[in-house]
Amino acid sequence: MNAERVELTLTVNGEPRAVAVEPRKTLADTLREDCGLTGTHLGCEHGVCGACTVLVDDEPVRSCLMFAVQCSGVEIRTVEGLADGDRLHPIQQAFWEHHGLQCGFCTPGFLMLATSVLEARPDIGDEELREVLASNLCRCTGYQNIITSVHAARDQMRP
Ligand code: FES
Ligand code: FES
Repeated sequence: MNAERVELTLTVNGEPRAVAVEPRKTLADTLREDCGLTGTHLGCEHGVCGACTVLVDDEPVRSCLMFAVQCSGVEIRTVEGLADGDRLHPIQQAFWEHHGLQCGFCTPGFLMLATSVLEARPDIGDEELREVLASNLCRCTGYQNIITSVHAARDQMRP
């Protein structure tokens, strides 16, 4: 039996997106299936890996743990909103230059997590930055190049 769909308008990367979703549909699935924004990846689907991290009102959230119907009236930011046309965001540029990715599966989540922390705390110290980044999992890189990339972006993003 199909549950009744709820019509709502999400604001994603500054654009309104009208969707009609079942109340149980996650934000991650809604972004991917209803908005066509497949840059948000799904790994564990139960809040462990962080691959699905997006920003909600500038706070990082695991979009596999949030329902789309909870997101009316908030600003959602996804990896698709980072670049400015052809110009990469500093965090993307840093991952590119410092080999912060291999398969790329975890990368959107790390990019959004790092963006939120560097915007909120541009002077965050190395140790705290490591602790923040420890919430997301990567099975390829061994993490060092991710940390190097985020340090480089921090240098670029400091006001
Ligand atoms: S897919 Fe959401 S935390 Fe792993
Ligand atoms: S680059 Fe492959 S999981 Fe992180």
